[in-house]
Amino acid sequence: MATALVTGATAGIGKAFARRLAAEGNDLVLVARDAVRLAEVGTDLRGRHGVAVEALPADLGDRSLLERVADRLRDAGRPVDILVNNAGFGATGPFLSRDVAEEERMLDVMVRAVLVLSRAAAPGMIARGRGAIVTVSSVAGFQPGGTYSAAKAWATAFTAGLAGELAGTGVTATALCPGFVRTEFHRRAAMDVSHLPGWAWLDADRLVADCLADVRRGRVISVPSLRYKVAVAILRHIPLRLANMNY
Ligand SMILES: NC(=O)c1ccc[n+]([C@@H]2O[C@H](COP(=O)([O-])OP(=O)(O)OC[C@H]3O[C@@H](n4cnc5c(N)ncnc54)[C@H](OP(=O)(O)O)[C@@H]3O)[C@@H](O)[C@H]2O)c1
Repeated sequence: MATALVTGATAGIGKAFARRLAAEGNDLVLVARDAVRLAEVGTDLRGRHGVAVEALPADLGDRSLLERVADRLRDAGRPVDILVNNAGFGATGPFLSRDVAEEERMLDVMVRAVLVLSRAAAPGMIARGRGAIVTVSSVAGFQPGGTYSAAKAWATAFTAGLAGELAGTGVTATALCPGFVRTEFHRRAAMDVSHLPGWAWLDADRLVADCLADVRRGRVISVPSLRYKVAVAILRHIPLRLANMNY
């Protein structure tokens, strides 16, 4: 029994983390922008699993709202044992055609928020001698592909570095690197994924169950499914120019 804070908990992978963690008996602090959806998810999980659920509506791209979430993680009176940095979004089109402000927002949510929240959560976890920080990165982080891929490459490298610093403290850091997962992600980013074959898709609940098993084993990088493990192994060994990705 622990308390987990999940960002981006109203949809897709984050909602699957919230579901699974609640089913395992953990209390939850749920973060996303849409307060109505957050309340709905909270009511559902409270009713189903009898856990305590706190809704913390926040746009993680907004520095003052991000600080509120960081304050919650630093609150020693209400310790958070598991932090899931999941909130994120994709983009279509080449970097040079895109609005710079939107690219910066991507870094705010998928880089700065991950950095700030991990930094806020870790000291308390270390002091208590237990905890886990999970950051949802992507297979895209192993490929050149604009700001999104660069943000995910940062998330994976950052997590690996953090895991090294945390060794021996009882606290783990894990980067979850999925391939394509059926969520709201592609529709929100107006990506046409109709050409993708069925086998390319991962199920969010299965992904989360496998990731949490990896967290318990202390794995630093969690790549779900054999097909994406093979893809990552190849991507890590071929020249960057051959791995170019165009969304
Ligand atoms: N789906 C895939 O194929 C895939 C593959 C690899 C990695 N990922 C990564 O997985 C993570 C989750 O994506 P998903 O596929 O589950 O997407 P999703 O279904 O679109 O869910 C995104 C979640 O993030 C929240 N969110 C977005 N912007 C936010 C912000 N500024 N502040 C706070 N919360 C915010 C959304 O809620 P609100 O809109 O209410 O804020 C929602 O709860 C992302 O980091 C994504 O990059 C996804």
